Amino acid sequence: MVISDKIRKAINKQINAEMYSAYLYLAMAAHFETKNLLGAANWFKIQFKEENTHAMKFYEYVLERGGKVELADIEAPKSEWKSLQEAFAEVYAHELKVTGLINDLMKLAKSDNDYATESLLKWFVDEQIEEEANASIILNKLKMIKDSANGILMLDHELGERK
Ligand code: FEO
Repeated sequence: MVISDKIRKAINKQINAEMYSAYLYLAMAAHFETKNLLGAANWFKIQFKEENTHAMKFYEYVLERGGKVELADIEAPKSEWKSLQEAFAEVYAHELKVTGLINDLMKLAKSDNDYATESLLKWFVDEQIEEEANASIILNKLKMIKDSANGILMLDHELGERK
């Protein structure tokens, strides 16, 4: 069954939201690379790639369901963060926002009796649990570390191990 226009438009909007997430994390990667926190930059670059795969999952889905993909402008993210803690507080807040968007899409799919979209979104609901947990664990560590240079360097090393 061809995707309804209402759902198609909502998913196209979500492609944009995922691309913005990718852009935001790429901006963070660039910023922390200039601060010589290369482990953190690695973490953000991997997150950038993950967000791209999220966008592409929606993209492929719209095409598979016979819909048209329409790409819109991607908002420019900011380019400076005062600290790693400030950045991860933003990551966490951003992921909570994305979870809200996924939940809204799920409500729409349910009200439209679109079981295929519901099935796709189930993957994203599970993925958001992980996205929120990852950000929250790192943010909590940063709150414990505070301004300890040693602590930051150790965490940077840990973030550098993400593959
Ligand atoms: Fe695509 Fe980080 O959620």
